[in-house]
Amino acid sequence: MLQPWPYPYLFAHRGGGRLAPENTLAGMATAVQHGYGAVEFDVKLSRDGVSFLLHDDTLERTSNGQGLAATQDIAALSRLDAGSWFAPRFAGEPLPTFASIAAYCRAHRLLANVEIKPCPGREAETGQAVATLAAALWQGHPAPPLLSSFAWEALLAARDAAPQLPRGWLIEEQWPQDWAQRLAALQAVSLHSDHLLLTAERVAAVRAAGYRVLAYTVNDAARAAELRQWGVDGIFTDALDVIRP
Ligand code: G3P
Ligand code: MG
Repeated sequence: MLQPWPYPYLFAHRGGGRLAPENTLAGMATAVQHGYGAVEFDVKLSRDGVSFLLHDDTLERTSNGQGLAATQDIAALSRLDAGSWFAPRFAGEPLPTFASIAAYCRAHRLLANVEIKPCPGREAETGQAVATLAAALWQGHPAPPLLSSFAWEALLAARDAAPQLPRGWLIEEQWPQDWAQRLAALQAVSLHSDHLLLTAERVAAVRAAGYRVLAYTVNDAARAAELRQWGVDGIFTDALDVIRP
């Protein structure tokens, strides 16, 4: 049986989707401005163990930093410009800490899907740290953050560190034959799939087993409607200006 689900159908992917630099406070504000009630963002650890937002292992694509993020302390990471690469008007936008984004989400009633995105070799450490911090940051809040990851070891560590927080398993490339066993082992609430792997039958089977189905990354309004018709519980989208709440 499906448990109650506090999250809306639409999650703004990486904060502001294609309208703002990804994984920044400006991105979260863009989601709010477009009427979104939930965001997805990526969290990893600095060298000194602080949780912060970044998608890639390296800094070049989305900031003016260089090299592996895991080799730098949070003090140095916090001085980087994570906005100029996207557009001049975002110059000076910082690489945010997880704690600062959590505070923003809580203050603006924005629900969160926290994707645990460990740097290679730090899977369990990152899952443990992010889940522990998430539990503390959202303590007493009616809708907890939904944790997810492609990294199985990170999810197991998150489960052990904060069993009370909901968890989703992220999949890509191929549909796992053992999805039911995996979701049970994780005590998960949801399966987060590349939307191209989904069929109406697969969505129905996962939901019949008691798990929600979320789909990434859906930027076409007709496809979003089709997935909803199939029973998909939520989508991640970059097209905040096209797919409207
Ligand atoms: O969590 C959904 C989606 O964000 C997963 O892919 O690469 O955009 O983090 P990616
Ligand atoms: Mg992500």
